[in-house]
Amino acid sequence: MAITQTSAPGKIILFGEHAVVYGRPAIAAPVTQVRATATVEDSPDTGLRLRAPDIRRDYWLRQASEGDPFAKAVRAFLGQAGLTEELPLIVTIHSTIPIASGLGSGAAMAAAVIRALAQHLGRPDLAQNGQVSAMTFQVEQLLHGTPSGIDNTVVSFERPVYFVRQQPANRIETLTIGTPLSFLIADTGIASPTKVAVGDVRREWQAQTAHFERLFDACGRVAQAARQAMERGEVDQIGGLMTENQAYLREMTVSSPELERLIHAAEEAGALGAKLSGGGRGGNMIALVTPADQGVVQAALLDAGARAVLSTVLV
Ligand code: PMV
Repeated sequence: MAITQTSAPGKIILFGEHAVVYGRPAIAAPVTQVRATATVEDSPDTGLRLRAPDIRRDYWLRQASEGDPFAKAVRAFLGQAGLTEELPLIVTIHSTIPIASGLGSGAAMAAAVIRALAQHLGRPDLAQNGQVSAMTFQVEQLLHGTPSGIDNTVVSFERPVYFVRQQPANRIETLTIGTPLSFLIADTGIASPTKVAVGDVRREWQAQTAHFERLFDACGRVAQAARQAMERGEVDQIGGLMTENQAYLREMTVSSPELERLIHAAEEAGALGAKLSGGGRGGNMIALVTPADQGVVQAALLDAGARAVLSTVLV
C-alpha cells in the first residue's frame, strides 16, 4: 500500500514577534535540525485514523473535538480539497520539536500533515508552499487566537522570511543572507502557550495603546534595520539589534526571569546579541555567536540552567 511521508522544520523568530501581530515587519527562519514528520497511508478501514505515538494517541477523526490541532490540520485540508472525513487513511505524526516553547511545533505539525495528505491524494496544487501555509494558518488560529501568519509562512516555505501582516495579502519576502549566521537556541524548560502571551499583550495594548504602539513601531524599525544588516552580512550590527529588540519585548511584559538569566549568561560569555524568540514568558531564547565563541556560550547557557541548547546556521 502506498505510503507518503513529508516533514516541516521548527522555526525561530529573529526579530519582531508580538509587534508582527499588529502589522509591523518581522523576520523568522527555519530550524531544520528539529522537524515534524507526517506519514499518510491507505487503510483497510473506513474513516480517517489519527496517530501520534509520541504522545500515545490513536483515534478517529470523526471523534476528534473541534479544538484538536491535529484533527484541525486534517480538516483544513479536507475542506480545501472537498473531501469527507470517512476516507480510508491513517495519518501518523512524529515530532522532535519541543512543544509550547516558541519553536513553532504546532505550525510544523500542521504543515507536514497537510503536505503529506496533498501529495498522497494526488493534489500537487494543494501541496504548494502558499497553499500549505494558508491551510496551516487555520490551525494557528486555533493555537494562537490571533496569529500573525509568520509561523505558518516560515515552516511552509522553509526559508528565512521578512514578513508583514497586511490586507489583502501578507507581504512575504525570502531573505538572502550575506554571511552565515550561527545561532544557539536555549530552552528555559518552561512551557508557555503563545495564546496566553498574545492575549496578555492585547490587553496591555488596549490599556496603554500609545505606549504599546510606540514599542511596536520600535520593533518594526529594528526588523527593517536587521533585514539590511542580514543581507549585508553585518554580524555585529545584527547582534546589537537583537539586544535592542529584547529591551522592547521586556517592556511588553513577555520576558521572564529564566529568559533574562539565559540572555545575560550568553551576553557575558561573548554572544553578539541575545533575545527571547516567539511568544516569550518561557520557551526558548536565541543567541548570535561567532563560530569561535559558540562552545563557550553554549557551556554558559547550560550552566545558567538551559534544559537543552540547539545550534543552527542560517545560510
Ligand atoms: O510562540 P511562537 O513561536 O508560536 O511565536 C509566536 C509569535 C508571535 O508574534 C508572538 C505571535 C504571532 O502569531 O506572530
